[in-house]
Amino acid sequence: MQSRNSSRSRNSHVCPWWLAYTFDNPLRKLFHRPQKMLGPYIKEGMKVMDIGCGMGFFSVGMAKMIGSKGKVFSVDLQQEMLTIMLKRAKRAGVSDRIFAHRCEPDKIGLDEKVDFILIFWMVHEVKDQTDFFSQLQSNLNGGGKILTAEPKMHVSAEDFEKTLAIAQYVGLQLCGQPPIRFSHTALFKID
Ligand SMILES: C[S@@+](CC[C@H](N)C(=O)[O-])C[C@H]1O[C@@H](n2cnc3c(N)ncnc32)[C@H](O)[C@@H]1O
Repeated sequence: MQSRNSSRSRNSHVCPWWLAYTFDNPLRKLFHRPQKMLGPYIKEGMKVMDIGCGMGFFSVGMAKMIGSKGKVFSVDLQQEMLTIMLKRAKRAGVSDRIFAHRCEPDKIGLDEKVDFILIFWMVHEVKDQTDFFSQLQSNLNGGGKILTAEPKMHVSAEDFEKTLAIAQYVGLQLCGQPPIRFSHTALFKID
């Protein structure tokens, strides 16, 4: 077992890998259902990204949805998160379609273009949100969508409004705010 102080968890903004078990546990399926939440945006064969994938609750869910011809790019700062995510993906029989990428705090570092990007409960951990959304915009295919959700227990409505303003400032268009339990949400598109 790796040290609790290892990797990027020393950065105080970032959820340490061991703390993720508090919300990413078997009970989570009762209130977050990847298929129901993401079904309107994800089709078989798509390429998608899960940014700040953590232990892979949504990466595994999305891998099932895109099928064997699709690809999920699962991105996180912390190697511990990626290792646990890949173990879960193997157990679910979908690791063949997941590409795990360890990024830098201020650089995603993937050139791939995808049809859908999920950013779940992580934007509040990003220091420079303007740069972050600009980078992600360049990873999106025309007609692609970005869904972001932020936890209401950590992020005030006022702070989420600031995130929305930043995303729109860099050129993303707000096109919906689907209901997700315990979350502020925003769906963005580009032309
Ligand atoms: C609260 S967890 C949420 C994990 C996952 N999205 C979920 O819903 O289960 C936030 C994750 O974002 C990652 N993270 C924080 N800042 C990041 C950054 N700048 N780039 C990539 N990942 C980051 C953390 O390492 C952590 O795994």
